Amino acid sequence: MVENAKDFKNGAEAGSTLPTLRVFANGKAKRYIVVGLGSEPKDGKSLESVGSAVGKAIAMKCDTEKKVKTATFLLPQSVASDTQSLNDMSSTFFSTLYGDNRFRTGKKVKIAAEDLQSLTLLSDGPISSDSMQDAVNRGKKMASGIHMTKDIVNAPHNVLNSESLADTARRLAEESGGSLTCRVLDKEECEERGMGAYLGVARGSETQPQFIHMTYTPPDGVVKKKVGVIGKGLLFDTGGYNVKTNMMELMKFDCGGAAAVLGAARAIGALKPPGVECHFVVAACENMINDKAIVPSDILTASNGKTIEILNTDAEGRLTLADALVYCDKELDCESIIELSTLTGACMIALGKSVCGVWTNDDDLAAELADVSKTTEEKSWRMPMEKSYNEQLKSKVADLTNLGAPYGGSITAALFLQNFVSKKKPFAHIDIAGPVWDDKLGATGFGAKLAAEWVRRQGQSNGENKE
Ligand code: BES
Ligand code: MN
Ligand code: ZN
Repeated sequence: MVENAKDFKNGAEAGSTLPTLRVFANGKAKRYIVVGLGSEPKDGKSLESVGSAVGKAIAMKCDTEKKVKTATFLLPQSVASDTQSLNDMSSTFFSTLYGDNRFRTGKKVKIAAEDLQSLTLLSDGPISSDSMQDAVNRGKKMASGIHMTKDIVNAPHNVLNSESLADTARRLAEESGGSLTCRVLDKEECEERGMGAYLGVARGSETQPQFIHMTYTPPDGVVKKKVGVIGKGLLFDTGGYNVKTNMMELMKFDCGGAAAVLGAARAIGALKPPGVECHFVVAACENMINDKAIVPSDILTASNGKTIEILNTDAEGRLTLADALVYCDKELDCESIIELSTLTGACMIALGKSVCGVWTNDDDLAAELADVSKTTEEKSWRMPMEKSYNEQLKSKVADLTNLGAPYGGSITAALFLQNFVSKKKPFAHIDIAGPVWDDKLGATGFGAKLAAEWVRRQGQSNGENKE
């Protein structure tokens, strides 16, 4: 094995693996896999993404190695004594073992690592097997959130619409044993609040709008920080009267932000981090066409009183998010807000399929998110809030338009959203249009762990990020 380890090319990147070594002893077959951990971190530096990379590599091996019943990870002390790495390894291991069989029958049914029954962590270090098992269990809780995110994104619109998404949120709260509560505002309650931007989008669908608000409270009720996490929840985006002419079938993933938010809620509800109260908000609806649907040139009024001239009905996400932001900022008084959405094709063009874009005026929040994204291996890149582009959102007849010029569309979308949050409040918009979907594997679960880990850290004092 040690000899084999020398075969690693280029210094054994974290997550790289050697071919499986098969050893027969006492009539039994054992399989060994050597996994790279990357280069040794410098003093004081965390292991960052080692856990996620290794968890994913092992899960993929377990999936291809049939009839593996039990798996043992033999970990070096540096990894075994780093709680964050163990959590990451476990959550990525379990979340990678996902198969969506809801719409398959007979031979089409594929269960990931079907034969695997148990997982044990071993180390020669001082860490007890109990605390390692605890890390495995915490990882499982996170993975259950990520599975939910994938299930929501993979479900087509005829199976999951905004009404069934609201039912899912209610069920999550019931299953949380009291750590999560769920309130769903109906159309009238949204009207009372003047949520004209959101309701304008929802008008074209036969499904009633569902404004989902889940609240997490820590078990001891001690709250140091109150935060908001918002997700774009378009259960389908046809484009509306500016109907999509390209790849409309992908637009079942337009609830990717909402899915990440509900997945994070499930994980947080199970992990029960101290010190943070979190509000999970999704203004769920569909962008469809009927005789009530909005048309270009309509003017809508959002719940903060701003008027918006609709120049393109396909720029609908920002309209639903406008009212969700006002609700989190003004009605709930959240101290900081992050928002995840599959908002623009332009972000996908800029950053590709693996990296999400982050827009924020707050440097501390940008640094926090960059750090979280490194450990969770959900890659992100900070993008500019180019104020001069605000010119593009000026309307001749209303306060704003919902459409910028053809270039820099992901930036004008972020600038649009900034109109619905108090200027000084830390707020980040995260565009996950690229990484939410893998053309081969379907939903990736992107964003759930990012949001959950960000929320968890909000409850730690002085920005300290370890348990
Ligand atoms: N949901 C889409 C964004 C999107 C498009 C994500 C393609 C992933 C792939 C969003 O509602 C949308 O349609 N955005 C338009 C905005 C435009 C009309 C300003 C877009 O990106 O084309
Ligand atoms: Mn659209
Ligand atoms: Zn959309």
